[in-house]
Amino acid sequence: MKSKNRQQTLLVLIVVVAALVLGGRMRGAGAQEEDQFPPGSEEYIEMGCYQCHGYDGNGGGGPRLAPDPLPFAAFSSVVRRPPNVMPAYSPKVLTDEKLRDIYEYLESIPDPPDASSVPALSEE
Ligand code: HEC
Repeated sequence: MKSKNRQQTLLVLIVVVAALVLGGRMRGAGAQEEDQFPPGSEEYIEMGCYQCHGYDGNGGGGPRLAPDPLPFAAFSSVVRRPPNVMPAYSPKVLTDEKLRDIYEYLESIPDPPDASSVPALSEE
């Protein structure tokens, strides 16, 4: 009788611990997902902008887009009718709404830290 009680207690304990661990994991995964994809960044990646302009708009094959993107009118005019080698994105492929989202993502990218605030850069 005593040992059956103990077994039951152990079982309850296992269930409680498992629930806590799994619950914590799931919350953790959700939070991580939010952190990984700031608004507009999914459209930026889906449309392939990152391939030439870098994941955070820092440039690559194409010019740097962020921080401080061009004013929206100039920005959208380049995307619709690029002057040179960039492929044109018509509203059929990239809706005005998605273009806005992409722009908002680029606007949300913060300035890099000042070089003097990075200790490794001031080491002799
Ligand atoms: C295949 C490479 C490529 C892709 C993909 C691409 N771009 Fe470009 N982008 C360029 C190049 C190269 C330029 C320079 C102008 C030119 O050559 O047409 C440019 C210029 C720009 C400019 C003007 C920047 C400036 O300071 O003059 C903007 C804004 C821009 N791209 C936004 C985008 C967005 C938004 C996307 C995704 C919807 C995108 N680009 C996808 C290559 C690319």
